Amino acid sequence: MLIEVTINGSRVKAHVDAGATLYQFLRDRGLFSVKCGCSSSICGMCTVLLDGKPILSCSMLAARADGHNITTLEGVQKEAEEIGRFIAGEGAEQCGFCNPGYMMNTIALLRENPNPTEDEVLKYLSGNLCRCSGYQGQLIGIMKYVEYANSLSKEGV
Ligand code: FES
Ligand code: FES
Repeated sequence: MLIEVTINGSRVKAHVDAGATLYQFLRDRGLFSVKCGCSSSICGMCTVLLDGKPILSCSMLAARADGHNITTLEGVQKEAEEIGRFIAGEGAEQCGFCNPGYMMNTIALLRENPNPTEDEVLKYLSGNLCRCSGYQGQLIGIMKYVEYANSLSKEGV
């Protein structure tokens, strides 16, 4: 079937197989930040934004994205780099496999709630699995970023 979607601000028209996942559709278009760790809605690595809300692209048919806006990490580079700096500052930079999904959910959280508590961060990101960390460094980095972003908005920057 023919679908038309907006990906990172660009209109794309394409024919998709009825059974193709959104994950495969995005990878086929060179959006290699989108990763697959499980194909079964468990790990969060394939997270992208659909009309600004995080969804698992491994578990959604590409056909269902017809008419919607998709954002991948490639479309939020500046935001991701800024938040990533704070996480790296805590020595908790993540691998290229789990980081894109983690970052997409972090960005979605901060857009919905620019001043989350630690519990809210942990809850929102609980679907993003990392095999190698205790999540503490990432949490501290995000909270420091929140403090920084709020201080900028108070100054009107
Ligand atoms: S690859 Fe989609 S949740 Fe794991
Ligand atoms: S840093 Fe990527 S899985 Fe742990």
